[in-house]
Amino acid sequence: MEAGAPYLAEDGREHKGSWKELFASEAPLYLEIGSGKGRFIAGLAEKHPECSFIACEGGYHIYPRILQKAAAQELSNLRVLPEYIYDPCDFFEDGELDGIYLNFSDPWPKDKHGGRRLTYRAKLEAYRRIIKKGGFIAFKTDNDMLFDFTLGELEAVGMEPERFTRDLHASEWAEENIMTEYEEKFSQTGKSINYLRVIV
Ligand SMILES: C[S@@+](CC[C@H](N)C(=O)[O-])C[C@H]1O[C@@H](n2cnc3c(N)ncnc32)[C@H](O)[C@@H]1O
Repeated sequence: MEAGAPYLAEDGREHKGSWKELFASEAPLYLEIGSGKGRFIAGLAEKHPECSFIACEGGYHIYPRILQKAAAQELSNLRVLPEYIYDPCDFFEDGELDGIYLNFSDPWPKDKHGGRRLTYRAKLEAYRRIIKKGGFIAFKTDNDMLFDFTLGELEAVGMEPERFTRDLHASEWAEENIMTEYEEKFSQTGKSINYLRVIV
């Protein structure tokens, strides 16, 4: 944990509007919400040193794993926001981000919990505010119910996928894909992975 301390971005609300100052860089800035142990975002940060990345993970026993990766890989372009984000607009100013990644988000299978899903329409509206025009929301999941729900929510807010597949690993985007921990687990069982991307 100590080695990871420089990568920790506590008090996330205080960085609203000034996240780029943490990186001392005007590089494009990307957020992943629900990073888990961080394999995806650490891989992306390593592959793209010209960009900056924020890994948001609320699990207090989980986010230290991302810090460990950041330290081990010396990822100066990655910070970890150790909180559950409910209203993204509390943490980010309008147009502050270039893109958001949502990977294997919790499905919240009961209908009455639909509003908690990270792709619920009010969240999509919030993402659209904090991402600059021309930026994107990228979403992948093994969960067909959540994927179908997300397509409906996108339609409800007037957004249309510019990338769409129900089998990411067999698609034209397979080569650039970086696997998450959950993705590896589910694809090993033979489950195909849903993927979409929306330009805002
Ligand atoms: C199913 S896991 C997927 C982890 C990782 N993305 C992967 O694909 O391996 C979902 C993660 O999202 C985190 N999470 C859920 N809602 C969140 C929120 N609102 N803000 C931050 N993290 C969240 C959970 O703590 C959990 O670690």
